[in-house]
Amino acid sequence: MQHAGTPNDEVLGLATAPQIEEKIRVLILDDDRALLDSLHEYLETRGFEVDAFVRTADAIKALETTTYDAVVTDVLLDGRTDGQEVLKQARARRSDVVVVMMTAFPILEDAVGAMRHGAADYLRKPVNPRKLSAFLHREIQMRRFETESFALDDLVSILSELVARTIEHIDPYTRGHGERAAYYCDKIARRFDFNEVELQRLRLAAIAHDYGKIYLRDLSFLTKEGPLTELERQEIMRHPHLGAEKLAVDPRLKPITRAIAEHHERFDGRGYPYGLKGDEISLPGRILCVVEVLDALATRRSYKPPWPIEKIREFFHEQRGNAFDPAVSDRVLAAIEEEGAAFFAPDPDGGPGPM
Ligand SMILES: [Fe+2]
Repeated sequence: MQHAGTPNDEVLGLATAPQIEEKIRVLILDDDRALLDSLHEYLETRGFEVDAFVRTADAIKALETTTYDAVVTDVLLDGRTDGQEVLKQARARRSDVVVVMMTAFPILEDAVGAMRHGAADYLRKPVNPRKLSAFLHREIQMRRFETESFALDDLVSILSELVARTIEHIDPYTRGHGERAAYYCDKIARRFDFNEVELQRLRLAAIAHDYGKIYLRDLSFLTKEGPLTELERQEIMRHPHLGAEKLAVDPRLKPITRAIAEHHERFDGRGYPYGLKGDEISLPGRILCVVEVLDALATRRSYKPPWPIEKIREFFHEQRGNAFDPAVSDRVLAAIEEEGAAFFAPDPDGGPGPM
């Protein structure tokens, strides 16, 4: 490996840490009282500060005196398109406000109008509160991410929080997956000659490797039971490229985007999205590919318990030179040989891991 020679402090940045845990203020407007109450209640349990209104006039009055981070509104209130009016008001008060329009009748004309006035998205009723919460977190964090300049270690916290509150929140079986991926990457990379800077980059890539999933058109694929349709499969296959592309906006994250783009490439060239083969894939990318699978095998998922150590070892022998780079497989096998059960990351629910 090449030594970048950049000192840690410079890589991580030592600027004062910005406060990333401020309350997010959300206005919700809907004339359906039951929906309003359920969204209000749920968003508050997720740490949002919520003002909920049934009447448009009250919402507009609130917008005159309070600055909201996000506005969630019905399109049609009492049969009139008051939602558009609220949207305009909200934008006048704060140009980068996140706006979500909810509708039972997605009418093309309204969608176009909403886009023109800067609505972030349309959600079809009945609106799933978890989906709304994940969506708001994503949009608000991304707005900060794009407009403020953070030290790299703050970016790491923002990214892990974002992944935890969106992808890992929607699919509880992946809770802590990013953190565990970083843990395994570190263990494996130390058996190669990575220097500290390279190790840090790899850990960061591991935390953010599935970040592109946030941008999939429909997060519900992630927890779909049963096989995916061809279209859904193709949509999911966009996430490595999407994640790399979105993270590349920050020059400090550029060095990690290659590994993220490559984390589903297989050594034998049968992976996605590019079908790269052997050392066309970077070493960090080859390690991430192994770690992605390793964590899935070693933790409980909706469809299986953690695999026993012996079965994991067999799998690594089998995939050596197929899905996995032989050099990476050998390091994993050597580590399991030496450390046994202690090699595996702690189970997220405190249950037994591979034995
Ligand atoms: Fe992935």
